[in-house]
Amino acid sequence: MAAEARTALVTGATRGIGRALAGQLSAAGFRVFATGRNQELLRDLKNETGCEGEAFDLASPDQVFALYRNAVEALERIDVLVNNAGMNNRKAPVADTTLEEFDYQYAVNLRAPYILCREAMRDMGARQEGHIVNVLSTCAKARIPTMGVYSAMKCALDGLTGSLIKEAREYNVKVTAVYPGGTDTDFRKATRPEYMCAESAAAMIVHAISAPADVVVHELTYRPMCETNF
Ligand SMILES: NC(=O)c1ccc[n+]([C@@H]2O[C@H](COP(=O)([O-])OP(=O)(O)OC[C@H]3O[C@@H](n4cnc5c(N)ncnc54)[C@H](OP(=O)(O)O)[C@@H]3O)[C@@H](O)[C@H]2O)c1
Repeated sequence: MAAEARTALVTGATRGIGRALAGQLSAAGFRVFATGRNQELLRDLKNETGCEGEAFDLASPDQVFALYRNAVEALERIDVLVNNAGMNNRKAPVADTTLEEFDYQYAVNLRAPYILCREAMRDMGARQEGHIVNVLSTCAKARIPTMGVYSAMKCALDGLTGSLIKEAREYNVKVTAVYPGGTDTDFRKATRPEYMCAESAAAMIVHAISAPADVVVHELTYRPMCETNF
């Protein structure tokens, strides 16, 4: 009998790293539930890859809970959760940032992945299997001027992920902290051809997800060549 397909919930799958990741997981045989805010891009993704998907705004906790419920309903169970969605309003020195920018980044970059980690950990823990992947950034390791608020959220998610790695052990749940470096996506206005392409950044995450059953990649740091002086 053929093995049952593994399932994955991928956030931030309308563009960039998440879009590439949803396509690659789908090509590898995963049943994928993809999300982002742009319904049209999710439809394109479904047409191209077969990924199921639905639009939700991660800034709203109610929508994050609804996303999790609908993903579980569509996939029956979530084997792999990838908290990939993330954003930075703009580059600015801390002194020039606003409370609104801080609150929005907190909601999208920290609260939403926290909720999804919590819900997934409860379900995966009960089943004694599963894999949670949190996409952080090399910003969580370097202190970069003009990226203070974004780095604060990634560092906080890094802390949460570090604790989760240890808590998840007794439940046989794998947890991976991913630290990509510069990737040429819509994340910023300027194109950066010297950075990694989204497909390459996603391929590294697929690699971590595809590790043998007796291996957990708990930290994965990778960069484009131009950033090796970090
Ligand atoms: N690009 C880089 O250099 C780089 C480096 C290190 C780490 N990262 C991290 O890698 C992850 C992916 O980044 P990327 O470069 O692929 O960015 P991207 O191309 O800008 O894509 C961001 C994704 O997040 C989704 N998203 C943003 N705000 C959302 C919200 N409020 N609700 C739901 N979805 C939302 C977007 O979907 P919609 O627009 O459809 O909502 C989009 O699919 C992020 O966590 C980022 O912090 C990026």
